[in-house]
Amino acid sequence: MTTGHDGEFPIPVRTDTYGCVESQPWDATPLQPVPGVDDIVLVASGKGGVGKSTVTVNLACALAAQGLRIGVLDADLYGPSIARMLGTGEGLEHDQEGRTIPSYAHGVHSVSVANLMPPEAALVWKGPLVAQALLQMFREVAWPSLDVLLVDLPPGTGDVQLTILEQIPVTGAVIVSTPQRLALLDAERGIAMFHGLDIPVFGLIENMRGYCCPCCGEEQPLFPKQGLEALCKRRHVPYLAGIPLDPAAQQLADQGTPLVRALPEAKTSQIFNHLATQVNQAVDLERRAQLMRSQQQTQTGHEQFWEDLLDS
Ligand SMILES: Nc1ncnc2c1ncn2[C@@H]1O[C@H](COP(=O)(O)OP(=O)(O)OP(=O)(O)O)[C@@H](O)[C@H]1O
Ligand SMILES: [Mg+2]
Repeated sequence: MTTGHDGEFPIPVRTDTYGCVESQPWDATPLQPVPGVDDIVLVASGKGGVGKSTVTVNLACALAAQGLRIGVLDADLYGPSIARMLGTGEGLEHDQEGRTIPSYAHGVHSVSVANLMPPEAALVWKGPLVAQALLQMFREVAWPSLDVLLVDLPPGTGDVQLTILEQIPVTGAVIVSTPQRLALLDAERGIAMFHGLDIPVFGLIENMRGYCCPCCGEEQPLFPKQGLEALCKRRHVPYLAGIPLDPAAQQLADQGTPLVRALPEAKTSQIFNHLATQVNQAVDLERRAQLMRSQQQTQTGHEQFWEDLLDS
């Protein structure tokens, strides 16, 4: 059983893909791909309110501007933000097979429960219903052909995260944190969860790193440095980007237009563009690594088969 970096995450590693790699290569049953989707990248955080949804929509738009076909799945069922931030309205169409057709805005396809219920309504669902709805959003939506589906997660390491990790073939995750120590502690828990489940963490994104002065554009630190870079080193996770607190990002998000779309030349938009390049490269590398691993497994399986045959 592979347990990732430090292996201390206390839940069982799923055995259908990763757990059996070393012992039973022939029986490793990969998780069913999501129809139409090449790669799935989770946008996660330990703490709430650190900017996951803001990062998700801007990263999505930046990746789309680089020519990739991008979707966003709002997995934050109790506190969905994606519909508001992408300015998609209520109600989604269905295709002839009854599958939900995602919204399309700013070059990005998206699905959120907020598209299906009035903004003031509260979702009051128990765990099993949440898992069912979540899986439907992956598998019963008519996703067009996508290079990457970004998944905006709720904070923490709870049911939604585990349901996705157990059922959906995830390519990797990025973790968003603010620089405060409390946020970092929870970010580290998130990293431990992904590493414990053998999900690559493409890197850490430091949001609200400093304040962007609206007059001169200079960035001033908001909080004292609390060890985010040290955390990256300790967990062997790249530091992907430092995003300033930019009032324009918040105002535009509230109006339904991501900063990267409204002000593509802005300094903060450039940071998102650079982030998109790094995420794109990480996805590409991981895809190649997965291919190599599966070829190696096939090779090992063949060799084992002939060894067993000759032995018998
Ligand atoms: N870099 C930033 N500059 C300015 N405002 C920001 C920035 N990042 C996030 N915000 C604002 O902070 C608030 C929280 O951000 P967001 O909703 O993206 O966080 P979240 O981690 O998704 O929260 P939750 O855990 O509730 O889902 C929003 O109003 C958003 O516009
Ligand atoms: Mg959010």
